[in-house]
Amino acid sequence: MSKRVLTTESGAPVADNQNSATAGVGGPLLLQDQHLLEKLARFNRERIPERVVHARGSGAYGHFEVTDDVTAWTKAAFLSEVGKKTELFLRFSTVADSLGGADAVRDPRGFAVKFYTEEGNYDLVGNNTPVFFIKDPIKFPDFIHSQKRDPFTGKQEPDNVWDFWAHAPEATHQITWLMGDRGIPASYRHMNGYGSHTYQWTNEAGEAFFVKYHFKTNQGIRSLSAEQAAELVGKDANSHQTDLLQAIERGVNPSWTLYVQVMPAAEAADYRFNPFDLTKVWPHADYPLQRVGRLVLDRNPDNIFAEVEQAAFSPNNFVPGIGPSPDKMLQGRLFAYADAHRYRLGVNHTQLPVNAPKAAVVDNYGRDGFMATRYGSRHDKNYEPNSYQGPAQTDTPLSAPLAVQGWTGTHEAPLHTKDDDFFQAGELYRLMSEDEKKRLIANIAGGLSQVSREDVIEKNIAHFAAADPEYGRRVAEAVNALRED
Ligand code: HEM
Repeated sequence: MSKRVLTTESGAPVADNQNSATAGVGGPLLLQDQHLLEKLARFNRERIPERVVHARGSGAYGHFEVTDDVTAWTKAAFLSEVGKKTELFLRFSTVADSLGGADAVRDPRGFAVKFYTEEGNYDLVGNNTPVFFIKDPIKFPDFIHSQKRDPFTGKQEPDNVWDFWAHAPEATHQITWLMGDRGIPASYRHMNGYGSHTYQWTNEAGEAFFVKYHFKTNQGIRSLSAEQAAELVGKDANSHQTDLLQAIERGVNPSWTLYVQVMPAAEAADYRFNPFDLTKVWPHADYPLQRVGRLVLDRNPDNIFAEVEQAAFSPNNFVPGIGPSPDKMLQGRLFAYADAHRYRLGVNHTQLPVNAPKAAVVDNYGRDGFMATRYGSRHDKNYEPNSYQGPAQTDTPLSAPLAVQGWTGTHEAPLHTKDDDFFQAGELYRLMSEDEKKRLIANIAGGLSQVSREDVIEKNIAHFAAADPEYGRRVAEAVNALRED
């Protein structure tokens, strides 16, 4: 085999990669040393903006196989037949910390799936939690600021974390979840994924259903205690990345079974919980889990930057048969992601191999911009309609229309009969065993006792007490005990 020759970016051979060119022995550098200039300049440009949330993550390729007939509810082609397989890419992540953050921390985990379907890419950008902290996207930047590093101290501050929550009673359900046993997954393989939001499915007849997605891990749920996690972070800050990479390299391919809860659209208005409120679940007794298929991860990316850092998932990448619900949070996200991608990766990010459709062809009149590599043939017109057989619209909506009523305004999400900020948090607390409750209380008190203001502590305790009086009392006792120490 002939030896590979080191070249410049323009392909010319490099004569010396160890010594830069100087004016005489020991003299200053020469501007004509193209290899040195290019090497230093290129190095300066290796970093791109990291994701403003979910910066730290790991990804893998795999496939989804349909195991059950769901055509009564959706016309999505990739779900149209039992046995049908679709390629996919999945990126897991932590949320709050920056790119270099540790994996084994108490934080929700991202669970973002890109299905490369024959009708275009379908992105389901979920978390490992079935609910979320807030229910209006206008609060999201403030929420994230309170959880990420403080602009003065440069680290996460319990004062900020709990002050935001003191003002967000709707977060009580998700806080109870996060501070509980599943708050620190042992690895990405040992946790569930959820679409969290309610989405809309539409069948061939045009009937609409509201659905919630649940990916149940086939590896079993495994979590870490606060102490185990602290030890692991010290040993291997990249523990989730190590685990996922090594499992797939060994051929131990992780898998999840996808279930959906399905609500006929006509039932949404009178359901006891607002089905479009992201801080609420639908109890399985009301809407049981229906199996859809199996997701398997079986191939590691070859290059983390190209395929994981540059991966771009957007909740508004839908395919026929799947669409948004009126959930305000979801609606906000329909804007936020593609906007982030245009900033972080550029307008042509959809042309990068990990983001480009694999089973569908992109054919439109979008043109140019930085780094454009996709263009039509030399006779294609760049306007529409045209008389030259260019691509044209189908006149078939992807999903059913949503009914709306009333006046425009900055409205709070409507409350249904059983809706308040605390009932479901209390239900979750009461479901826990005594040991689970003890760990939950200890985890909450560990953070809350570090808060410097009494009023912030009291407001948070009041939220737990509203969920369940015993819950509030025990958190108060545990916080007091730690503060007296
Ligand atoms: C209105 C609320 C939200 C806003 C404005 C928002 C915004 C964002 C933004 C800007 C990013 C970075 C995207 C990128 O640079 O590629 C992101 C990442 C992410 N978000 Fe959200 N987010 C919201 C709520 C949620 C919720 C409720 C979930 C889960 C149910 C979620 C899951 C994720 C995941 C998994 C990622 C990482 C995707 C990846 O792996 O590239 N987000 N979010």
